[in-house]
Amino acid sequence: MAKIYLSSPHMSGNEMKYIHEAFDTNWIAPLGNNVTMFEKEMCQFIGRTSAVALSSGTAAIHMGLKILGVKEDDIVFCSSFTFSGSCNPVLYLGARPVFIDSDNETWNMDPEALKKAYKKYPFPKALITVNLYGAPANYKEILKIAKEHNTPVLEDSAESLGSKYLNKQTGNFGDISIFSFNGNKIITTSGGGMLMCDNEEIKQKVLFWATQSREPFPWYEHKEVGYNYRLSNICAGIGRGQLEVIEERVKQKKNINKLYKKFFKDNKYITFMPESKDSDPNNWLTVIKLNDKCKVNFMDIINELQKNDVESRPAWKPMHLQPIFRNCEFFTSAKNGSISETIFNKSVCLPSDTKMTEGQVECVSNVVNKVILSEKGI
Ligand SMILES: Cc1ncc(COP(=O)(O)O)c(C=O)c1O
Repeated sequence: MAKIYLSSPHMSGNEMKYIHEAFDTNWIAPLGNNVTMFEKEMCQFIGRTSAVALSSGTAAIHMGLKILGVKEDDIVFCSSFTFSGSCNPVLYLGARPVFIDSDNETWNMDPEALKKAYKKYPFPKALITVNLYGAPANYKEILKIAKEHNTPVLEDSAESLGSKYLNKQTGNFGDISIFSFNGNKIITTSGGGMLMCDNEEIKQKVLFWATQSREPFPWYEHKEVGYNYRLSNICAGIGRGQLEVIEERVKQKKNINKLYKKFFKDNKYITFMPESKDSDPNNWLTVIKLNDKCKVNFMDIINELQKNDVESRPAWKPMHLQPIFRNCEFFTSAKNGSISETIFNKSVCLPSDTKMTEGQVECVSNVVNKVILSEKGI
């Protein structure tokens, strides 16, 4: 069996057309027609008016927090159960992340834990939600609470391009939203990101910061710190070719999820990441959770898959358990420990590569079933 990847790049075939256009016109630069068009096409797909193509999702979060006015010593509420790129930019700005636990219904930010955090910190400067593994957060509740406290929301949709919540594309629920086009995402530009909003003034300011804060002078004049965060015209060309097949990729990811559910239907030791009735996730990664009766550890499964040349990985280790964030506060509604820690200790992200065949999904499932149902396990 050829190596099976977790979620690897999958070209549509049209990327080269846009790359050639850039070469033919000598626009090998962090600006050009592909950048402009990729932003326009993302606006059309998501349904927002303004977009800035950037070098990564992390850069987009950095610029998003900065435009929301986050400064030194400000409090920013962050989801704990996420990738570090979600909250590192809080530290870039000298601000303080305060971590919020997940709930069992979405595995995303728990509104009850959020309310607890507001009791201690009624005026955070911003709140970052995450749509984990493509599954939207509980925006009905979270946005209501944030509004009561007048907190602007940054929606980290890095993993959720093509997911919907209440029939609307994710990326519409934050005052600012961001996407990542890293190599492992549902579509990729090799590395890249996008900041989206509905405010042309915000777009122009982010564009200004992301291109070294050059003042409109004939010479290079700078009054503010700038960043070199713009997406290359070549990468944007890849993004345009990729965006053409986003609907197809969502269908493929959903089908992989459906197949795993079929192949695990008799395995009573496995549950799947929950899907709320309000959401229609892109199933970027299919994640399984082992129940308390299961005697094998998540690493037993990952190691056995690796022996079979199959890439899988643990769920994100929550940020409140990370050494770098050890001094940050954490709020949970769990009686003992935390919900995100329990999920982390019991879960495996299964390969969800859109190039996988049904036979490959079956092979992966057979390995997992065998480990769990082996004598060692049961
Ligand atoms: C939830 C989440 N936030 C932020 C990022 C950062 O994006 P990037 O890798 O493009 O910087 C990622 C992924 O890479 C992510 O999964």
